[in-house]
Amino acid sequence: MLDRIELAEKNFKTEIESEIDLEKLEEVRIKYLGRKGLFTELFEEFKQLPKEEKPKYGQVLNKAKSLAQKLFDELKSKLESSEAEQKEYIDLTLAGRGVNLGSKHILTQTLDEIKGIFKGLGFSIYEGPELESDHNNFEMLNFPADHPARDMQDTFFVNDNFLLRTHTSPVQVRLMENTKPPIRALMPGKVYRNEAISAKSYCLFHQVEGLYVDEDVTFAELKGTLVAFLKQFFGEDVKYRFRPSFFPFTEPSAEVDVWWQQKGKEGKWLEILGCGMVDPNVLENVKIDNEKYVGYAFGMGVERIAMLKYGVGDIRVFFDNDKRFLEQF
Ligand code: DAH
Repeated sequence: MLDRIELAEKNFKTEIESEIDLEKLEEVRIKYLGRKGLFTELFEEFKQLPKEEKPKYGQVLNKAKSLAQKLFDELKSKLESSEAEQKEYIDLTLAGRGVNLGSKHILTQTLDEIKGIFKGLGFSIYEGPELESDHNNFEMLNFPADHPARDMQDTFFVNDNFLLRTHTSPVQVRLMENTKPPIRALMPGKVYRNEAISAKSYCLFHQVEGLYVDEDVTFAELKGTLVAFLKQFFGEDVKYRFRPSFFPFTEPSAEVDVWWQQKGKEGKWLEILGCGMVDPNVLENVKIDNEKYVGYAFGMGVERIAMLKYGVGDIRVFFDNDKRFLEQF
């Protein structure tokens, strides 16, 4: 029996020392250590031995079996960890993944450009809230309650007294109430209109308001400033026109159109801003002496002028967040 124990141990060692994978190792385990394995058989045989012979074989058999078990456990964990390593194999020759850098939204870029041009013309930047009082959005700007001009701007009311501002003009009111002339400021921001959404209008858009109040401001200066802006923004050969118009808070008032020409299509005039001389009533409302001071003001639609400059045919694309559009700028 001793010979057979020795032989089993020797064979077991040879079998696990040959190139082996986890599957074959399991076969070896069953063959030697399984319920019907060689060592189990030897133990069965051992049980049958006469009592006095047992000590002679017991120790050897136990030792051989635990050694086999130990060698098996070691090899198994080694094989398992190398298999895991193989799964994590990193191919260092693969090209790296590109880092996607974001960029400023085209409206932000347009706003930055407008601000830059007007800063160069001596304007400072001033901002006001998007949630505004009816008082500042309309009343102070010479739109009395029930005035038909209120219909020019469909309004999102929050309650009887508050609304989402329909234009950036109420920021003029805030500024004039808090500052003594001379005032020369640019007021950019979001505005809201309860309008049917289409290629031309959206419920939200951006405006840039301008205001200059001093002792002898003229309409000619207003025109000169706006033309300087148009030329810097669109280029020297921009085609524009000033057209008489009406706003409750300016007198006289005008609108500026820029010629919109898409390839293969008929060109047309597109309105980009309203402007005029600040109505004396507005100056009186904000307690600025309207005998001494005059002012001009203007308000332009940022989406409109971005559409013109970059040939965008539908205002909604600015808000869709479609990367195919955004990545072009
Ligand atoms: N607030 C006007 C609008 O949203 C635009 C405007 C017109 C602003 C004339 C002005 C202005 O400051 O003088 O339609």
